[in-house]
Amino acid sequence: MAKKALLVYDTNLGYTERMAKLIEAAMKAEGIDVVTKFATKAEPDDLEGVDAVVLGCPTYFEDVSTKIKLFMIEMKKANIKGKVGAAFGSYGWGGESIQIMNDTMKRMIGMDMVEPGLKVKTSQMMVGEGDQLCTAFGKKIAEKLLST
Ligand SMILES: Cc1cc2nc3c(=O)[nH]c(=O)nc-3n(C[C@H](O)[C@H](O)[C@H](O)COP(=O)(O)O)c2cc1C
Repeated sequence: MAKKALLVYDTNLGYTERMAKLIEAAMKAEGIDVVTKFATKAEPDDLEGVDAVVLGCPTYFEDVSTKIKLFMIEMKKANIKGKVGAAFGSYGWGGESIQIMNDTMKRMIGMDMVEPGLKVKTSQMMVGEGDQLCTAFGKKIAEKLLST
């Protein structure tokens, strides 16, 4: 049976959404069954039976968005300890959200993280330079998932 992954992302200007679509496509190309949801549409039930959770969030004010924070609380309540996790996002200069998501998924939720997460600058996304990084990251997540 195919491995199942849930990808939840937030975005304001669309760059992290573009990253999400590329990561989703790369994982699907490796045979992973991926469900992708915008953060406000994601529900605790979406975590049922997943082998991996991938979170995407841009950095605003050196932080993760409230939507993604609330979903990480649902992840903590769900039984996903030991499952594969990965964090990504677009950023302008510091990209703090990726580290926060990565650390929370690892330390609080006990996930087996794809390290390091992927942070891509807005400027790289604007000229398409980030696309191959996203595709490679999706492949890396899939490979970890297939080897577990
Ligand atoms: C109001 C505002 C605050 C921001 N704060 C940060 C920040 O603290 N650190 C950072 O690295 N980028 C920051 N950025 C840049 C965004 O992370 C960047 O534009 C990113 O590509 C947006 O992703 P999105 O299109 O998925 O929303 C900020 C952008 C705006 C508009």
